[in-house]
Amino acid sequence: MDFNLPEDLVLLQQTVRKFADDEVAPRAAERDHAHEFPLELVRSAARLGLMGASVPEEWGGSSLGNLGGSIVTEEVSRVDASLGVTLSVHNSLVATPILRFGSDALKRKYLPKLAAGEWLGAYALTEAQAGSDAANQATKAEKRGDDYVLNGVKMWITNGAYADVFVVFARTSLDDPSKKHKGITAFVVEKTMPGIRPGKTEEKLGIRSSSTTELVLDQCVVPACNVLGEIGKGFSVAMDTLDGGRIGIASQAIGIAQGCLEASLKYAKQRHQFNRPIADFQAIQWKLAEMATSIDSARLLVRRAAWLRDRGEPCSVAASMAKMQASVMANRCAEEAVQIHGGAGYTTDFPVERYMRDARITEIYEGTTEIQHLVIAKHVLSAT
Ligand code: CAA
Repeated sequence: MDFNLPEDLVLLQQTVRKFADDEVAPRAAERDHAHEFPLELVRSAARLGLMGASVPEEWGGSSLGNLGGSIVTEEVSRVDASLGVTLSVHNSLVATPILRFGSDALKRKYLPKLAAGEWLGAYALTEAQAGSDAANQATKAEKRGDDYVLNGVKMWITNGAYADVFVVFARTSLDDPSKKHKGITAFVVEKTMPGIRPGKTEEKLGIRSSSTTELVLDQCVVPACNVLGEIGKGFSVAMDTLDGGRIGIASQAIGIAQGCLEASLKYAKQRHQFNRPIADFQAIQWKLAEMATSIDSARLLVRRAAWLRDRGEPCSVAASMAKMQASVMANRCAEEAVQIHGGAGYTTDFPVERYMRDARITEIYEGTTEIQHLVIAKHVLSAT
């Protein structure tokens, strides 16, 4: 068993860390304060090949797989979780399902543009009544000639205001209402197709420089060739995609926690009380030791899940375990980081208050902690 990353991923990690430290970190707090979407940084990330991490080279990507995508999200989120989720959604929830379920024509049309960062992606599953109960879709897609006409309103759409391409889920039939996840179909919808527009922009507690909007589909006309996967099999497309997405959010959580640890180490060595650095006190040392250990253990779960997915092996449970552990851990680390910083940590003079606000969402989106428990429990119960 080899715990070292392969050489190409070590290089990727170094490249992304340099990008994060030199270009992303300096204005992260300012963007958060201003709720400013980092469009220029998305372009810079694209130039580095970070928008096509999971896309094979034949489709214009950098062929770094889910493990590569995880490293990109972790390293960026270490300084800016907003940019972290922007890239994670693009890579894991848009480029990846097109790669896994798209026809050759869809792959040819969308993957090179997504991988080059020419187009940004978004994923539109959630609706007002379909949050954790994702199968309860009310958006409808009706076949008219060679097209489908979509009507409905989607919510919590990351990248909503800036995306060029949306993976959208809608109900195409009500044949068997007792099995509500049947009859859902996935579509690739472009922002220039008639009848699609972003709705209300959300004001959020954290990840404030990421874009989160409603998505309104009002007589939205989508060509039938833009069906992703099979008609009526969209729920499986959504769930399979979320297996990868959860690895992404778990990576975001690891990045936030790592940022908390690094900020806390720095502060604990600088801050003096009772004539010595607070790092000399065992109370602080224990917190740092627990943070370091919990980050390492969650990171191992995340890397295992990404590795399984890259090998084409089942990874739902591993992804849920990774997300559950990493997101709870990130919240705990963020609380401890603020505690180590004391009053200073409660102000915007230090990044840890932002990290604490950003960590909160990792337990909510792409399946709450409670949903991850359900997925894991179903598996362990059925395995006995
Ligand atoms: N891969 C492929 N197919 C899967 C799957 C997977 N990982 N998991 C389940 N399925 C399939 C099953 O095989 C089954 O299909 P068949 O009947 O054809 O066999 C179907 O899906 C239903 O499966 P279950 O009976 O297990 O589903 P359920 O209804 O019991 O549970 C759930 C589903 C786990 C609760 C699910 O609804 C869920 O994950 N909910 C949370 C939704 C969520 O994570 N939303 C995130 C929104 S996206 C977001 O946040 C984006 C953003 O912008 C950041």
